[in-house]
Amino acid sequence: MKLMDYRFIKEHAGEAVLKQSALNKENEFPMILSMIYPQPKICIELGTLRGVSTAVLVKNLCDIVYTFDIKQYPECESLWNSLKVLPQIVHYIVKERNKEKEIIDSLSADFAFVDTIHDYENVKLDFEMVKKCGRVLFHDAHFPEVRKFLKEIGAQLWGREGVFGYWINEEARAYY
Ligand SMILES: C[S@@+](CC[C@H](N)C(=O)[O-])C[C@H]1O[C@@H](n2cnc3c(N)ncnc32)[C@H](O)[C@@H]1O
Repeated sequence: MKLMDYRFIKEHAGEAVLKQSALNKENEFPMILSMIYPQPKICIELGTLRGVSTAVLVKNLCDIVYTFDIKQYPECESLWNSLKVLPQIVHYIVKERNKEKEIIDSLSADFAFVDTIHDYENVKLDFEMVKKCGRVLFHDAHFPEVRKFLKEIGAQLWGREGVFGYWINEEARAYY
C-alpha cells in the first residue's frame, strides 16, 4: 500500500486547507481507505475543492482519479504537481448536473468518493450518478440529511462519529 499521511500532505497544502478537507481528522481518511479491499483501480470523485482528498485517493488507493467540481480552485494543480500525482488525475469543472452525468456515464470506474453538498437532494443525485461504480464512500455522513439518505440505501457508517458512509452493491457484496 502506498501511504501518504496527514503530516506529509500538511507540509504541501498547509493546515488551513486540510481543515476544510476529508483530512480534517488527521489520519482518519487514509485509515478508512486502507479498509477498502480489494483496492479499486479507478475512482470517480465528486467534490474536488482544493484537491486534498483527490491526492490522498490517488496516493493511498487508486491508480487514477477522475475528479469533478463545479468551481475551479487554482491551488489544485500546484498541490498535485508538488505531490507528483498530477499525471494520475483528470480534473473536470462542470457546472450543470446534466453535463456532469453525461461525462460520468462515459467513464468506467470501480469506486467513487462523494463529498459535495451535504443535503438530501444533492447526495441522492450524486449517488445516482456514481452507483454504477459498485462501491461508494461518502464523506460527512454525520450531516443529518446525508445520514438519512445513507440509511435508506443501507450504507455502513465508518470512522469516529460515523463521518464516513460506505455502500457496496449487492453483486459486489457477494463478491467481496
Ligand atoms: C466539502 S468540499 C470537498 C472537499 C474535498 N473532497 C476534500 O476533502 O478536500 C465540497 C465541494 O463540492 C463541490 N460541489 C458542489 N456541487 C458539486 C457537484 N454537483 N459536483 C461536483 N462538485 C460539487 C463544491 O464546489 C466544493 O468544492
